[in-house]
Amino acid sequence: MNILGIETSCDETAAAVVENGCRVRSSVVASQVDVHHEYGGVVPELAARKHIENICAVVDQAVAGAGIGMGNMDGIAVTRGPGLVGALLVGFSFAKALSYGTGIPWVGVDHLQGHLNSVFLAARPPSFPFVALLVSGGHTAVYHVISHTDARCLGHTRDDAAGEAFDKVAKMLALGYPGGAAISRMAGQGDPEKINFPRAWIDKNGFAFSFSGLKTAVKRHIDTHADYRSHMADIAAGFEAAVVDVLCHKLLHAAEETGCADIAIVGGVAANQRLREAVSKAAGVQGLKLHVPDISLCGDNAAMIAAAGYHHLVDAEGLRGRLDDDVYSRARI
Ligand code: KG4
Ligand code: ZN
Repeated sequence: MNILGIETSCDETAAAVVENGCRVRSSVVASQVDVHHEYGGVVPELAARKHIENICAVVDQAVAGAGIGMGNMDGIAVTRGPGLVGALLVGFSFAKALSYGTGIPWVGVDHLQGHLNSVFLAARPPSFPFVALLVSGGHTAVYHVISHTDARCLGHTRDDAAGEAFDKVAKMLALGYPGGAAISRMAGQGDPEKINFPRAWIDKNGFAFSFSGLKTAVKRHIDTHADYRSHMADIAAGFEAAVVDVLCHKLLHAAEETGCADIAIVGGVAANQRLREAVSKAAGVQGLKLHVPDISLCGDNAAMIAAAGYHHLVDAEGLRGRLDDDVYSRARI
């Protein structure tokens, strides 16, 4: 069964074709980074306009790349929320119209469910139930994942998302936007133990996270060290180590609490090499199996939406889309 996935929740126009919820036939991601870079963050109105310009070509490219033609598509899955409403509406309306015109069934997919399903695009997917750390620019949470369509949130950030903290610290260090990968590259040349930044709530507040104090600590360090430019790599390394410590600790703790042997990291920050290494090492010690998506499927993409959509259409018929369905901006899971 082939599903065409469409994702336009933020600043990536993406389309993909996935077979049986696990085999990626094609995946196209048109990034808008160049448009938003000069503003230091995503400008919602510009994002929506850019999606309108890109969507036809991106979908065409994904369908052509899959080598099967629109006539062989069994379903259309599209991100319904959370995200920027104007941006979401472009993909959502496009998918509805495409379904209406072709008669192919469609389904609206939660973006976070999409990220959680991204591990099923890997060669050895996890077994249910498993615990997943979802870390991106807009979200940071730990989930107890029961099935492809059912995940329970164990705890989430009370302020900034981990990726947002990376982006804000990158801005303070003038490393550009988005800053996660740039901070990580710079951290590679620094000493993570030189500056001891706070590990907020590492041993308290259950599975809730807080990164605003860490961000403020970095700002204070910069403001009180006129020579901070001489040790930017140590700042980046110390910051990254603090984020990784907290994320790793809470994920492992969730595995212990739930008794799950399989754990996963998904979302844009899952591309972070030090996070992958730290969790992999800790998982090895505790006999847990770590699952991570391919780097190309950590950030926003439509293959994960198609994978989740496949299960919505096959396992849960009641989740099929209706023409009067609307998008939503805030997280529902
Ligand atoms: O999942 P995603 O593409 O979009 C959202 O749904 O938010 O995640 C984007 C986030 C950005 O904040 C970006 O800085 C961060 O993921 N990111 C990283 C890395 N690559 C991307 N953060 C840390 N290390 C990385 N290597
Ligand atoms: Zn995302």
